[in-house]
Amino acid sequence: MTTTTTSGASTPSGNVGEFTTVDSSDRSTWFIDFMDRANALPEYGDMRRGLAAALGDLKGKKVLEIGSGTGDDARGLAALVGDDGRVTGTDVSEAMVGEARRRSTEGPSLPVEFATEDMRRLSFADGHFDATTAKLVRQHCDDLDAADDELMRVTRRGGRLAIFDYDFDTLAVDHPDRTATRQAVHCFCDGHRNGWNGRALVGRFLDRGLNEVTVTPYTVRMPFAFFRPSLEGRLAEAQHSGELPWTQGQLADWWRPLIEAQERGRFFASLTGFVLGGTR
Ligand SMILES: C[S@@+](CC[C@H](N)C(=O)[O-])C[C@H]1O[C@@H](n2cnc3c(N)ncnc32)[C@H](O)[C@@H]1O
Repeated sequence: MTTTTTSGASTPSGNVGEFTTVDSSDRSTWFIDFMDRANALPEYGDMRRGLAAALGDLKGKKVLEIGSGTGDDARGLAALVGDDGRVTGTDVSEAMVGEARRRSTEGPSLPVEFATEDMRRLSFADGHFDATTAKLVRQHCDDLDAADDELMRVTRRGGRLAIFDYDFDTLAVDHPDRTATRQAVHCFCDGHRNGWNGRALVGRFLDRGLNEVTVTPYTVRMPFAFFRPSLEGRLAEAQHSGELPWTQGQLADWWRPLIEAQERGRFFASLTGFVLGGTR
């Protein structure tokens, strides 16, 4: 879809709610660029370290990452498992798996491989992995019960699980119109299949028998260059379909003060998510 921005420019814009269908999209590179933009934020470095710490000592371990995207996180974990360990990154998107494999040929040789797998039905045997991780993928899954059962099933008893998920209703953005902003935030949140899964993490994994559960919040300050692609495609599609009951003019009016704030160096937005750790 092409989105007409408030400045009148036409820019191809993806919808972050469509990360389940990257392969059928005509702009898989938009999704790859979007993740690169996100992963470059300093708070994402903290989040990655939090996930790795929650997985425990990884030396010699067999590690699974679900929804591994471009593979950057899996390669980071591969640097921790040593010569006797192995990391398997899986993703439902062949475009993402292809990109992850391509990037892996560029750097130093690491014990990492990538496979096309759907998190709702993994091909691995019960307890195959010592440690399993999933970052920013559960939010897109249309059968979270199946996916969470699979995360538990493929992790061996006594093994570790570490998950990061946002809670999209925690989006805070400084805007003069409180009513419209609440509508925009809820629309952005509900554009994800599981926009509230951050707050539901603890309960869902306690229900599945995860032990020694810890949860750590991470708040990401969103620069405008990340905020805009995060919301622009979703709000434009929701406006177009009528789900967001605004005219195109009202949508442009909502963006205008944010663009002006950015130009004056006053833009502020943040989003909070949670790292869940636990022992299977
Ligand atoms: C927001 S990206 C996150 C990628 C990576 N975890 C990261 O943080 O850089 C979501 C990823 O989940 C993948 N995905 C979506 N639905 C999936 C499913 N059912 N099974 C496996 N992967 C899925 C997408 O293809 C995409 O690569």
